[in-house]
Amino acid sequence: MKSFFIFILTCWLLFISVSGKYLPTENDGEFQFGFGIGDITGPAAEINMMGYAKLGQDTNGIHLRLYSRAVIIADQSGKRVVYVNVDLCGSAQILKILVIEELQKIYGNDVYTHENVMISSTHTHAGPGGYFQYLLYIVTTEGYIKESTYAIVSGVVKSIRDAHDNLEPGHMYYTQGTLRNASANRSPASYLQNPEEERAQYEDNTDKTFHLLKFTDLNGKPVGMVNWFAVHGVSMNNSNKLISSDNKGYASITFEQDFNGYSNVGKGPFVGIFGQANEGDSTPNIMGARCLDTGKPCDFVESTCNGKNELCVAFGPGKDMFESTKIIGERQYVKAKELFEKANETIKGDLHFVYQNIDMANREVTLEDGSVVKTCPAALGYSFAAGTTDGEGAKIVSIPMKIKFFNKLIIE
Ligand SMILES: *[C@@H]1O[C@H](CO)[C@@H](O)[C@H](O)[C@H]1NC(C)=O
Ligand SMILES: *[C@@H]1O[C@H](CO)[C@@H](O)[C@H](O)[C@H]1NC(C)=O
Ligand SMILES: *[C@@H]1O[C@H](CO)[C@@H](O)[C@H](O)[C@H]1NC(C)=O
Repeated sequence: MKSFFIFILTCWLLFISVSGKYLPTENDGEFQFGFGIGDITGPAAEINMMGYAKLGQDTNGIHLRLYSRAVIIADQSGKRVVYVNVDLCGSAQILKILVIEELQKIYGNDVYTHENVMISSTHTHAGPGGYFQYLLYIVTTEGYIKESTYAIVSGVVKSIRDAHDNLEPGHMYYTQGTLRNASANRSPASYLQNPEEERAQYEDNTDKTFHLLKFTDLNGKPVGMVNWFAVHGVSMNNSNKLISSDNKGYASITFEQDFNGYSNVGKGPFVGIFGQANEGDSTPNIMGARCLDTGKPCDFVESTCNGKNELCVAFGPGKDMFESTKIIGERQYVKAKELFEKANETIKGDLHFVYQNIDMANREVTLEDGSVVKTCPAALGYSFAAGTTDGEGAKIVSIPMKIKFFNKLIIE
């Protein structure tokens, strides 16, 4: 089954405007911000893992603990935004609802709301699942799992509370760079279906841009970092049963150790957020896909070996998935260090945020000829069930049976 996150149920947009380019104001580049971190590891035994939708891939120990990393940014008018990056396959509406509920008990109804809090995720495929209220995401966990959900909610709330308590004035600096050897396109044949004139605009078949924000106090002392780079959290493959924050978690831990000391993992005070970007078909398994039986490359168009999709698997650069996680994590860490030292474009201006709920099943779309058409409820295509070269699809026969079972359960 394709990684679940191609579904966008709710759409969040968050803009930090940069004056000079946008809305010049009196703000001279001074903001208030605070960082926080909380543990969200959850049940490390017997819970189906979220990402590959593979029956039997149940947690059985820990490789790297999962964290929630939060940053609160406030401008001089007091307007604020919260960006939370969780080491999870994806965020969920129910998490957001529960987190906001907790925050409003502490801070009242106006400080932290559905509009100004964003919970994003690293897209690791190696965490316990079950923290969703929608059926599709809890089929392989055989239902909703309270123990997963509450471990996440309490860790996220802790990270935001710490960020709130750490608010202090400081400056933000931006820079960007390019990272070429930490990602590859996992559907290169599909990419080639794009018109030639469009492909000609880009040097690569996935986005290699690395965006970075550096945060310092008023004396220039570093207090935190956020970056965004597009690569799936699938260095740990679907045979893994250890909870892991995968390549981005590895990068965050390593970056933070530089500031907080080697043995001080997950405690701050410096927080380094490796956020996920436009990762669509961007895989960390950069050695490409090959057939498990023959060792030869898979069929280029179909990603199959002798007609079988489960034999075609992509591999990372390491001798095993642990080393691949480390290598892809380290490359992001090294790029972030380089850019952190270089970042010198001061962010000025006011904060803005936009939040929308969109009913994707009922949108009007104006076509080029002027006619207006409507979207309809979503359906899963065959390719969804086939999965990707980062992880084969679920055995589809079992899915309709499970769905029947859950419908019964939910109705009852
Ligand atoms: C990855 O690319 C960086 C430059 O972007 C380079 O310094 C590094 O040596 C490369 N690593 C490998 C293993 O190719
Ligand atoms: C997962 O990685 C291990 C090495 O750590 C490898 O032996 C195995 O073949 C891989 N399995 C899949 C399904 O990718
Ligand atoms: C930022 O640094 C680059 C070199 O890395 C330099 O060319 C540029 O002028 C600097 N910009 C500012 C605003 O200091």
